[in-house]
Amino acid sequence: MAEGRFTNPVVASLAGIRDFFARQELESRFSERDRADGLNILITGANSGLGFALAVEMASRGGRVIMAGRSKIPEAGERVKKLSGSQSVEMRYLDLSRIETIHQLVDSLVKDGIKLDICILNAAVALPGSRKTASGQDEMFLVNYLSSVILTQGLIAKSVLPLRDQGEPSKLIFISSDSHQGATYIDYEEFGRYFEYGVSKGISNYSYFKLVSNTYATELSRRINKGSVQLGINVICPGPVHSNIVKEAPWLLRMTLKGIFWIIFKSPAKAARPVVYMALSDDYRGTTNQYLHMFNPKKMDPKVYDEAEGKKLWERSIELIGTLA
Ligand SMILES: NC(=O)c1ccc[n+]([C@@H]2O[C@H](COP(=O)([O-])OP(=O)(O)OC[C@H]3O[C@@H](n4cnc5c(N)ncnc54)[C@H](OP(=O)(O)O)[C@@H]3O)[C@@H](O)[C@H]2O)c1
Repeated sequence: MAEGRFTNPVVASLAGIRDFFARQELESRFSERDRADGLNILITGANSGLGFALAVEMASRGGRVIMAGRSKIPEAGERVKKLSGSQSVEMRYLDLSRIETIHQLVDSLVKDGIKLDICILNAAVALPGSRKTASGQDEMFLVNYLSSVILTQGLIAKSVLPLRDQGEPSKLIFISSDSHQGATYIDYEEFGRYFEYGVSKGISNYSYFKLVSNTYATELSRRINKGSVQLGINVICPGPVHSNIVKEAPWLLRMTLKGIFWIIFKSPAKAARPVVYMALSDDYRGTTNQYLHMFNPKKMDPKVYDEAEGKKLWERSIELIGTLA
């Protein structure tokens, strides 16, 4: 059975506390000179938490921000405009648990002739158990993994996220979690199959799907960037964020975690800093297959780089998507 690194959320939060105090190697390289002027930036799950903070920061730095999400439309966009002082902010509907809305988003971007310079796959859920989507998958599997495949394949196939063999490549950033380290190998018995489970596996799946997602990001880069970098595909863990990620946890657990988050976790604005650095700094221009754990460059779990595993995941994902079309 697939397992993530943690089955206990309090233990996972304690790991977050350790991260909170970790040295931040590249932080001093991040500055106000890292600008987004003239760049088209898509952020998923931008109505809340880290995604919202990213939208504010990118708009403040001159970017044209497209906030994709399923709720708080248009209020979240209006708040981003107010906080950033920029009018170059819009919201588009996207519910990653409903596949048709992913295609609709891509088509709307095509229709408006938008070419993305930066795409940040930020949205994710942490659910207390299994939940079946309309298309028949488990919601966490679809939202936290398969939707990223459907969205990236659509954006790339329709050149909304262009592959560039000349000039500066666009950037695709996967928001991940360092908790992917230590998750088990990808379990193809479970892959895409709906079955019922409870809180403990729900928590474990969160870090497990980050492993799956990171493996896909690495394989995508391997396939696209054969000779030169045509699309920079990088992964980042923002570290512990005081956000709404535990909003669906059982009441007592939610209160406990919220307490820990409140006391020790970073504000979304602070957690957004290394992501903005990765997206805008010259240090990450033309790079691919890089991983940052907050401001610390490091390797992902060794399983993520296994080529046979990447190929298998790719093939199984595309095959599964074919059955859903
Ligand atoms: N919090 C942490 O300590 C931490 C640590 C490491 C990594 N991360 C990662 O950071 C990212 C952002 O999480 P966060 O902490 O900022 O949590 P958050 O405040 O709950 O934000 C998650 C975002 O994803 C959106 N989302 C969830 N399901 C969706 C769906 N079906 N369709 C479209 N959007 C959907 C949410 O929208 P709604 O508001 O409509 O639900 C929300 O905007 C996630 O990838 C998370 O795994 C978080």
